[in-house]
Amino acid sequence: MSCDLSQKIDGLRKKMGSRLCILGHHYQTDAVIRHCDFTGDSLELSRKVPTVDAEILVFCGVFFMGESAALLTRPDQKVYIPAEHAECMMALMAGAYEVERVVRTVNTTRRVIPLAYVNTQAGVKSCVGAYNGAVCTSANADIMLDWAMREGDAVLFLPDRHLACNTAKRLGLTEKDWQILHLSQEALSDPALQEKRLLIWPGCCPVHAQLRQEQIEAFRKKVPDASVYVHPECPPEVVSASDGAGSTSFLIAKAKEAEKTGQKLGIGTESNLVARLHKSNASVQGLLPMYCPDMNAVTEERLLTLLQAIDANKAKALSLSEKERKSAKEAITRMLTVCDTIR
Ligand code: 13P
Ligand code: SF4
Repeated sequence: MSCDLSQKIDGLRKKMGSRLCILGHHYQTDAVIRHCDFTGDSLELSRKVPTVDAEILVFCGVFFMGESAALLTRPDQKVYIPAEHAECMMALMAGAYEVERVVRTVNTTRRVIPLAYVNTQAGVKSCVGAYNGAVCTSANADIMLDWAMREGDAVLFLPDRHLACNTAKRLGLTEKDWQILHLSQEALSDPALQEKRLLIWPGCCPVHAQLRQEQIEAFRKKVPDASVYVHPECPPEVVSASDGAGSTSFLIAKAKEAEKTGQKLGIGTESNLVARLHKSNASVQGLLPMYCPDMNAVTEERLLTLLQAIDANKAKALSLSEKERKSAKEAITRMLTVCDTIR
């Protein structure tokens, strides 16, 4: 962390005062997190945005997170992100045009509800909204999959196959209930698909997909009295070998609990978060270095450059077409409404 950069950011934050709110995802580095007014997992951040009064929102996270914020703000508010090129590698595995083709094809013979993980582009959320589907996050995937199963004859979950399988297992579904799709038109027209209640897009998070069951077993041998918690974007066999899986905020809660009880912990998720947890409690350890290049593209330097551009009226806010905005917002709002009804 550079003192000079930090001081300049502090100065601009002071100058903009209550006109500015900086939000940050848990995977941001400490150098960025220290400048955030609010931090959270994807669900908490989506819930926070509509309550923010500031006219300028700076979102420290990847592109889809900024876009989701832009869907939930008032027309007089503007959303900016420090690294516009920071896409999520998993979100790039499901393009809007291809999602539209697949959703249309699987919906020709029965009602298939699309359920998009929040890690998707706005165009994908828009298509999902138009087909009466919804968004979900890692914190509510089971609630939303259960909802979607009751809404239609089947569900198309996209784009994370690992989150889909982990969530389906939590709901008591077994492998015979689902199919990981091949996306060719011929494969999508296979009559055998009609038997499946859950159709799964073949994407994944390359960061979390690295973690292997053997690495959990090796950690357990090394620290036999430790508990192991991972993010549900990890492969199903990794989740099965762990003591539990949940969102980034769930993992933070587990680390806080461990601080009180003295329990040793192994955590499987992005390294910036694990390093922060380890710093406040040395008995929390990472299972594997897991570096998300997209999340790390947001730096203190880029945050400062953005704030300077906003101050000089030269920054470009995120913008969405009206058509895209309407259905995508419906898909996110459906998630928030379903979860509010259950809470
Ligand atoms: P959370 O919603 O659990 O914070 O996760 C977001 C993410 O990108 C995980 O890789
Ligand atoms: Fe996307 Fe994976 Fe990075 Fe999360 S960790 S932002 S899912 S690439």
